[in-house]
Amino acid sequence: MDSILICGETPLYGRLRVQGSKNAALPILAATVLVPGISVLHNCPKIEDVRLMCKLLETVGCQVKWENHTVTVDASGVVCGTLPSEYVEKMRSSVIFMGAMLGRVGEVSLKYPGGCVIGKRPIDLHLKAMEQFGVQTRQTEEGIVANAGKMKGAHIIFPISSVGATENTILAAVYAEGTTVLEQAAREPEIQALCAFLRRAGAEIAGDGSGRIRIDGQRTLHGCEYTIPPDRIVTGTYLLGCMAAGGEICLENAPAEELSAVFHVLKRMGAELFICSGEVHCRRTHALKSAGNIMTEVYPGYPTDLQSPMLAVMALAEKNSSMTETIFENRFRIVEELNRMGAGIHIQGKTAFVPGARRLHGARVTAQELRGGAALVIAGLAAEGITAISGRQYIDRGYENIAKDFETLGAKVLYEENSGKDSRQPVTAAAGKENR
Ligand code: UD1
Repeated sequence: MDSILICGETPLYGRLRVQGSKNAALPILAATVLVPGISVLHNCPKIEDVRLMCKLLETVGCQVKWENHTVTVDASGVVCGTLPSEYVEKMRSSVIFMGAMLGRVGEVSLKYPGGCVIGKRPIDLHLKAMEQFGVQTRQTEEGIVANAGKMKGAHIIFPISSVGATENTILAAVYAEGTTVLEQAAREPEIQALCAFLRRAGAEIAGDGSGRIRIDGQRTLHGCEYTIPPDRIVTGTYLLGCMAAGGEICLENAPAEELSAVFHVLKRMGAELFICSGEVHCRRTHALKSAGNIMTEVYPGYPTDLQSPMLAVMALAEKNSSMTETIFENRFRIVEELNRMGAGIHIQGKTAFVPGARRLHGARVTAQELRGGAALVIAGLAAEGITAISGRQYIDRGYENIAKDFETLGAKVLYEENSGKDSRQPVTAAAGKENR
């Protein structure tokens, strides 16, 4: 697999259009299973997880067509079946096929879902919610078998807020008999996008965006067109790239209203931010101030998906900062790699202490999961010398082409074809070729 090579210390300048949201596109693609007709989704990001989701749709009998960033799904011929492990194990979001398949064909079997290695990530909340609809679930060594029979609407109180479990439950509730009410439902913008799509297809849903969602089931769904909203995590990643490298960038089609917790921290660190008709302008010309103590939280708090990229920026600040991870265990795996670049981060329990005032230096580093990989790219933008990042396939799960995007903004990006190089070898300019 190719590596990304970044020759750091070049400030970023220019403008870029933000891709469609991964975390909105995935449940909406799963939701097309509920529509006995044609769904047309515009602005779908061309990323690995979306491709896997399309493959899963095909395995249950959907016809899927890509044209530029538009995906057309004809789900008229959905059939029961087992979701193949080759896709399910690669992507955690495949679990939300459960609710959609139970709603449409009444049964499904799937392997235990995989995805990014960021802690245990159980699916107990998904299964308990399905059981409240009257679904019978059986867990075997290989996976889960679920049979719906006649699903009845339910009053479901989630013990904690879960994005995936909320989405799965909404999908199942659309065809359940009667009314379903979800309490302590997730409030992330991606839930609202899913509900907006379902409403356009004929579902009756109210309250999304609050912790209490009401779904009146058994409405007949019909085909529709929907545009996937822009990706708030990609927007945040690119802003953090500008914070690390310095310069001035403009992100078009950026969901500014979904990023207030992030903007708050960026301003504290010295960013100048201007928001104007769907564009976010970010300028960072002075030294970075401390980010203070940040805690990841459910929306609208600081997003866990921007925790690792922020660690890279914190390392460059004049003074120390800290980051407490409250959503996922084991989401500090990237710290070891950032420390190889000189970050000096120290972890105690759920908190990473970042000393700041660091001069990062290039190194050969490895991405092991999506957002940690993005953090390495951001560190590379600011590091002295060349940073070679392997494990690019993890980054491609969520970013259409992060290297090319930063190159558009002026970063010096090189590509290194797989050479089976010893990862301890120093990186030299001769190792890569320019991506032009
Ligand atoms: C989604 C996002 C991911 C983001 C996360 C939190 C997608 C495709 N992924 O992941 O990018 O980081 O929300 O904003 O949208 N939990 C349980 N039991 C369950 C389900 C979850 O204990 O059955 C726990 C998890 O381990 C975690 C917490 O709930 O500690 C939140 O997870 P959840 O919101 O479900 O995350 P995902 O939907 O997997």
